[in-house]
Amino acid sequence: MTTENSTTQERDVVDVLTADHQAMLDLLDETKQATNAEHRRDTADTVIAEIVRHSVAEEMQVYPAMRQHLPNGAEEVEHDIEEHNELDEVMKRLEDVPADDGRFMQILEELEAHLRHHISDEEDEQFLKLREHIPAAQLREMGEKVEQAKRTAPTRPHPNAPNSELYHKTVGAGVGMVDRLRDKLANRKT
Ligand SMILES: [Fe+2]
Ligand SMILES: [Fe+2]
Repeated sequence: MTTENSTTQERDVVDVLTADHQAMLDLLDETKQATNAEHRRDTADTVIAEIVRHSVAEEMQVYPAMRQHLPNGAEEVEHDIEEHNELDEVMKRLEDVPADDGRFMQILEELEAHLRHHISDEEDEQFLKLREHIPAAQLREMGEKVEQAKRTAPTRPHPNAPNSELYHKTVGAGVGMVDRLRDKLANRKT
């Protein structure tokens, strides 16, 4: 436990968000490889929940710092918000399509393309600027705040223990999951 704590403290916000990105891509892979509709639905819902809480954490903890410290920070944030909106739009479509429907994999691929594009924008450009313009201590503090936000996130399905029924009861019906999650996360005190 001590090791885990000290590791957490040493990780800055870039490390935390980069690890999130990898986890989201791994979950997408798992969804693509799922051999039955129930598992596919469950992992897809988990991907959606992960992307939403990651996006909300970025919007709450990272965007204000980008606006303040980065040259053209306000424009970068505008661009990112647009891409988050595009991701939301694709996720809402994925949420509405049954996992055994032919369109499901098509939308999943669309989601992956948007996600990979957005991740490379962040990792190849913005994260380098964050480390260039923001003091290391502040970046570590932002990392801790993002971790905190994630620890208090609403219950979500786990790919290896299908419980999407419980999840939908907690968060709301399947329809509107993206919006409900966003609201829940954004209104919470972190
Ligand atoms: Fe983002
Ligand atoms: Fe991100």
